[in-house]
Amino acid sequence: MKYYIRRSYYRLRRLYRALSIHLCKSLLRRFNYGIHPVSESVDTLAALTVKESEYYTEWHSPCPLFTPWVGHPDFQKVYEGVGRYTIVSPDRCYILKSLADYATHLNGDFAECGVYKGGTALLLCRVLNNVDKTLYLFDSFEGLPKCDEEKDQWFHAGQFAIDSAESVKQILNDFKDAIDIRKGWIPDTFQGLENHRFAFAHLDVDLYQSALDCCEFFYPRLVPGGILLFDEYGFPAARGEKDAVDEFFADKVESPMSLPTGQAIVIKAPSCEK
Ligand SMILES: C[S@@+](CC[C@H](N)C(=O)[O-])C[C@H]1O[C@@H](n2cnc3c(N)ncnc32)[C@H](O)[C@@H]1O
Repeated sequence: MKYYIRRSYYRLRRLYRALSIHLCKSLLRRFNYGIHPVSESVDTLAALTVKESEYYTEWHSPCPLFTPWVGHPDFQKVYEGVGRYTIVSPDRCYILKSLADYATHLNGDFAECGVYKGGTALLLCRVLNNVDKTLYLFDSFEGLPKCDEEKDQWFHAGQFAIDSAESVKQILNDFKDAIDIRKGWIPDTFQGLENHRFAFAHLDVDLYQSALDCCEFFYPRLVPGGILLFDEYGFPAARGEKDAVDEFFADKVESPMSLPTGQAIVIKAPSCEK
């Protein structure tokens, strides 16, 4: 008996709620307003407040397109198992692989800033297999540093911390002779590499100051035709990264090229080598 009373009570409550919503909706409709469910992801919320908000839209292809990142064997060869250790989506990993493939033909080494669990680093190691280049990996492995309250408001210090850098070393163990893991804070960990040249840098650090430090270090050391790939440039929550990149390149001949994946590319112009 008790059970039936409770069930009827919950049913009535649900009915009452549905009727109230229906009533509100029809009332709003009369005044030409409506209620629509809104997804509350950080990026969706950030897109409402970000600078140039009207240019942050959900982008859909008008027709089926070639999307090799859904499992094409050429991509799968380097992507196999990577998904477990990365928060970078397969379409972005595909861009990373394609640009890295190209950069293997240039002089200079490779770098990644922002390694986290090592997923995209593993992909880069596979691209560099049998190529005579070193992959430099920079991360605190203690997560993000102090964030700028205004520019990096959707992030917090310590975000993306992992238990130990040892787990990353294990994942990359097959490639240990080709990598140099520099644990610590950017830009301190760039010390000693001032005379180095780079063909490719994957910059996945999310924050304003970290992104600016990366631009200041890698841009002058990039060989002509070399690539900087910014992972989070188009994501509204990571607008600090976009601000840093836009500010840095405002007086350079190269302009960051925004991609539909959310990444941005800079290709070093041959005439601008320093
Ligand atoms: C989004 S995660 C990188 C994701 C990774 N590429 C992947 O495959 O999933 C960003 C990383 O940047 C690192 N990071 C950001 N700013 C840093 C700084 N100034 N010094 C060291 N590490 C930093 C954080 O520790 C974090 O692991």
